[in-house]
Amino acid sequence: MTDPTPFLHRRWPALADTLPHERLGTGPTPVRELQPGIWVKDEGAYGDGGWGGNKVRKLEWILADARRQGRGTVLTFGAVGTNHGLATALYAPQAGLKAAVAVVDQPLDDHVRANFARLKASGATVHETHTAWRTTLLVPYLLLRHRRPYVLPAGGSSPVGVLGYVEAALELAAQIDTGVLPRPGTVVCAIGTGGTLAGTTLGLRLAGLGDVRVEGVLVNDQLPLDAGRIARLAQKTAALLARRGADVPPETIPQAADIVIATDALGAGYGHATEEGLAAVALGPGLGLPIEPVYTGKALGRLLRVHAAGGYGERPVLFLQTNGPRS
Ligand SMILES: Cc1ncc(COP(=O)(O)O)c(C=O)c1O
Repeated sequence: MTDPTPFLHRRWPALADTLPHERLGTGPTPVRELQPGIWVKDEGAYGDGGWGGNKVRKLEWILADARRQGRGTVLTFGAVGTNHGLATALYAPQAGLKAAVAVVDQPLDDHVRANFARLKASGATVHETHTAWRTTLLVPYLLLRHRRPYVLPAGGSSPVGVLGYVEAALELAAQIDTGVLPRPGTVVCAIGTGGTLAGTTLGLRLAGLGDVRVEGVLVNDQLPLDAGRIARLAQKTAALLARRGADVPPETIPQAADIVIATDALGAGYGHATEEGLAAVALGPGLGLPIEPVYTGKALGRLLRVHAAGGYGERPVLFLQTNGPRS
């Protein structure tokens, strides 16, 4: 049986008391070669409850933090098809918490409709606020209505949530160490709110793999997401670790120049499908991966294009497959 102690607690035992963790999935997630030079780490396999993928990694730290603060409800935000809101709704009860999700409109497709139906059936309180500015106006009401909730930004990308991808990167480093996969030159993930990119970049640097480029593929134009902001999120996460008792080497803390963002796969905007993304979605069943059009399709489609043009050089490229639907 694999050791259930998080890598962060193994590396800095003091964090076991100061940064609690609620295990919601079983690692390490599987890695395999998809085609010569392209590897995948399938984060969709992470999550022992009704949902898998990158949101579950973040929730392990978020739900434990909410409980530590004595909160009763986690209040979060997203678009109507929000994977994060749905994962929060499904996992909060496991930590003895309620969930409330305020949702804004987005282009509708079958995946979005199915997620929204599941969210409404989950037992979470759903507030249909339609637009970002109406959500902002309603925040004071939502705080009163849910009695001092634990407020979680969209995508779970708070510094506490970002710890989930620091942890996943340490897990990946251990897999590289034991020879499960070769050391990649580049790791590719989608950027929806930036937490996965921020955490993976910080985590690989903490693991001594600072020479591995982490490339985020931007799929969201509804939030300001640039290298400076994502570096600040990583820096806040490093500061949180340091405050709670970890000795974070200063040279491992990412700066804006360490954050790589590809902006050429977004198409018409967040939630608008692209031809390249849909082609990657169509490859999903053959690859045994649940690729969807909003995040992972655009990221994988771009990866395949750049790889075919020799853009990743000699070392392998690793795709972080972050989608994990469960029926
Ligand atoms: C399936 C999937 N992949 C990737 C992402 C992007 O992750 P992040 O929000 O951490 O940038 C999200 C959510 O935003 C997602 O739902």
